[in-house]
Amino acid sequence: MSIKNIKFVVKPGGSLSGDFTIPGDKSISHRSIMFGALANGVTEISGFLSGEDNLATLNAFRALGVDIEGPESGKVRITGVGLNGLRACDSELDLGNSGTAMRLMAGLMAAQSFDSTLVGDKSLSTRPMLRVTKPLTQMGAVISTEDNGTPPIAITGNQKLQSFDYDMPVASAQVKSCLLLAGLYSSGITCITEPAPTRDHTERMLQGFGYKVSRSGSKVCIEGGGSLTATNITVPGDISSAAFFMVGACIAADSDVTLKHVGINPTRIGIINILKMMGANISLLNEIEVGGEPVADIRIKSSKLNGIVIPEDQVPLAIDEFPVIFIAAACATGETILTGAKELRVKESDRIQAMADGLEILGIDAKPTDDGIKIKGGTIGGGEVNSDGDHRIAMAFSIAGLKASDDIYINDCANVATSFPDFVVLAQNAGLKLISH
Ligand code: S3P
Repeated sequence: MSIKNIKFVVKPGGSLSGDFTIPGDKSISHRSIMFGALANGVTEISGFLSGEDNLATLNAFRALGVDIEGPESGKVRITGVGLNGLRACDSELDLGNSGTAMRLMAGLMAAQSFDSTLVGDKSLSTRPMLRVTKPLTQMGAVISTEDNGTPPIAITGNQKLQSFDYDMPVASAQVKSCLLLAGLYSSGITCITEPAPTRDHTERMLQGFGYKVSRSGSKVCIEGGGSLTATNITVPGDISSAAFFMVGACIAADSDVTLKHVGINPTRIGIINILKMMGANISLLNEIEVGGEPVADIRIKSSKLNGIVIPEDQVPLAIDEFPVIFIAAACATGETILTGAKELRVKESDRIQAMADGLEILGIDAKPTDDGIKIKGGTIGGGEVNSDGDHRIAMAFSIAGLKASDDIYINDCANVATSFPDFVVLAQNAGLKLISH
């Protein structure tokens, strides 16, 4: 977890051009460690994202007795211990800034024969965990949070979990994945119904490890008591990281960027759909499937964007991309309206408030609502904004510099390293006038 107070300064203007490789997908990297550790045999991963969030997961599994070599140039080698091979760890498992690590691990650790405690940093320690502990309790887990439903999560192991049928109240891949992990250890068939489609990397990867997952409509089911067989995983580039360069190339004049080998899983492409609705010039090239995940090169050129009403069904498909979508909205002609996105208030920061505050400082009319925001396109000025320690807020305001009339100063940027450690270098190479200190 980053404690250094890193500040970004972005000079106004510039354009983005060139071909770039975007670092590995964060969600897939987490899951590759988890399933590799639980499989029988050796799993080799390439393209692993060495961000702090994924390293927190990797270190947690090392602490649980799993032999993991790397990461070395994106390569990780895991000697799986099998579903029942994890060993008790005497200390707390520190998951840093990562909600994904904590919520998925809660499901896994609830099914182990030993006790464990999951802790996180200041931001993670404020995030809602009842969404996982409540259904896990219904499955027979003994698991508790602080009184207000936040971490630490304390788990008493050695419980017999029962499968169940759960209607998720929020569209959350983290909750779904947590319960699928617990379902691996439950007697009978666990089924989860989603209120809207969410990222399905867990389901795809379980199948890649030879574990049957069935889906019918919005319901996904898994039967406990099987085993995972080691496999090799190639992690595609993270569309959530690519999103910054997609928006940057749209808003900056004379831009033409190709982002190579990016994951375009249909449950993740809200950013492409929304930008296209706004008028973006985006094309997908060299579409192929790698290890059960679709990937493509994404080419984006300067575009004239228009404000839109964002369809609510796109919200879960673009859930992590809204900070930078708000920058696109600020540069568009007319108003952009987002509703049905209350979840943004409980991410690494309250992303609706953090973005509204920063956009107002930069002279953009941005009105937060309970479950979204209204943004009027305008002229981005300069000023000093806060990222609230949120990686995606820091990167979104960096991209705003391409259309700003003056310098933008962004405070509290150390957590960019949680998901995109090479952001500054890649952004500089692409043409952003960004300095980090
Ligand atoms: C993730 C799911 C999303 C997303 C997060 C990663 C995952 O969270 O915001 O960054 O890897 O499952 P929710 O499922 O809670 O919306």
